[in-house]
Amino acid sequence: MKSALITGITGQDGAYLAKFLLSKGYRVYGTFRRLSTPNFWRLQALGVFPKVKLISMDLGDFSSISEALTASKPDEIYHLAAQSFVGASFEQPISTSDMSGLATTRILEATRIHSRDARFYQASTSELFGGSQLGPRSESSPFEPQSPYAAAKLYAYWMTKIYRESYGMFTTNGILFNHESPLRGLEFVTRKISNACARIGLGLQDKIRLGNLEARRDWGYAPDYVESMWMMMQQDKADDYVVATGVSHSVADFVQLACERLNIDMSTHIRIDKSLLRPLEVDRLVGDAKKAKTLLHWEPRLGFSDLVTLMVEADLKRWKDWQAGKFFPWDAPLYPDANNIIVTRYSLDR
Ligand code: NAP
Ligand code: GDD
Repeated sequence: MKSALITGITGQDGAYLAKFLLSKGYRVYGTFRRLSTPNFWRLQALGVFPKVKLISMDLGDFSSISEALTASKPDEIYHLAAQSFVGASFEQPISTSDMSGLATTRILEATRIHSRDARFYQASTSELFGGSQLGPRSESSPFEPQSPYAAAKLYAYWMTKIYRESYGMFTTNGILFNHESPLRGLEFVTRKISNACARIGLGLQDKIRLGNLEARRDWGYAPDYVESMWMMMQQDKADDYVVATGVSHSVADFVQLACERLNIDMSTHIRIDKSLLRPLEVDRLVGDAKKAKTLLHWEPRLGFSDLVTLMVEADLKRWKDWQAGKFFPWDAPLYPDANNIIVTRYSLDR
């Protein structure tokens, strides 16, 4: 039986990947960090919580990373843990550089020392491309990071390649474009919209405050994307792959479809909040996943319209179940009202 170690198993991708690897017969270990309140709701929602072995690890702590490797003796390491919110990276640029950048080197070093034969996956991102180019981005497109998050991830991308080329280790970069699901964090725009629309539909909320409605992203479905991670790790030779649907939509398109699904009048409920505009924005991202399609035989299964429907319906069902007094693993009732969160870096600078 193969063993896999997933850093960041409590996140969106970590939970879906754990479920996928269990279905493939892996023994799955996952790292979590100590919080004042445990955060295992995604693993519980997918029904895999009792089936994974959990190891406490913090990305800033090399000894805990080493212990995670020696305890799990992994054949495959999926390094997903990071400060993953671009917006927060402007508010916390130094810790983001550490957790989304330098931490990858800590894990690569620990892997070189303790698990040199293990295969290593780095969660790279379409944010590396940044900039304002128009066309679809592939593995050979130039990088032009536009945020502390993207700059940190670019460093991690290069370190992953450097360990491959210097030490002959199997290290791979999955350059994944945005992927979403009902398990997405509530601060990301798609889930913010699906959750708010569900609440508006039920009369629990009146307005959604959003930033740049014109930004365009190539949005796919997270369970499809975690499969590509595993496929990269099964190849004879380590390499880097772009994973994307090849189609982009604007934030306004997402809002419009979500409102249509619930018969909500978009103009009445949407408000633009300038404090949610980023100091530097990536206006549009669309990917060219030809290499992944050809070599990995990966294909996205769920399209944009079905993704919006799935997310809106999932949040609507949750709020209805909650109103009916049902108890189930879920994040939204514990989340503060977005209007109560001050976006410091942006609002102070404007
Ligand atoms: P996510 O839901 O935010 O999950 C991030 C994970 O990292 C969580 O388990 C989190 O733990 C953990 N983490 C954060 N800081 C940590 C620390 N200091 N020590 C230990 N663990 C820490 O992100 P995701 O959407 O699943 O994305 C997974 C990875 O893919 C990230 O590296 C992200 O940058 C990258 N990526 C994501 C996308 C996308 O569209 N989703 C696209 C490209 C790349 P807590 O649960 O305790 O917070
Ligand atoms: N979060 C958020 N909240 N974004 C908003 C809002 C809002 O109220 N209004 C407009 N947007 C715009 C952002 O400015 C951005 O252009 C776009 O919506 C998407 O924002 P996010 O959902 O926060 O995702 P992201 O594209 O910045 O980053 C995600 O995808 C990357 C891959 O391209 C994250 O998952 C990253 O970890 C990942 O690397």
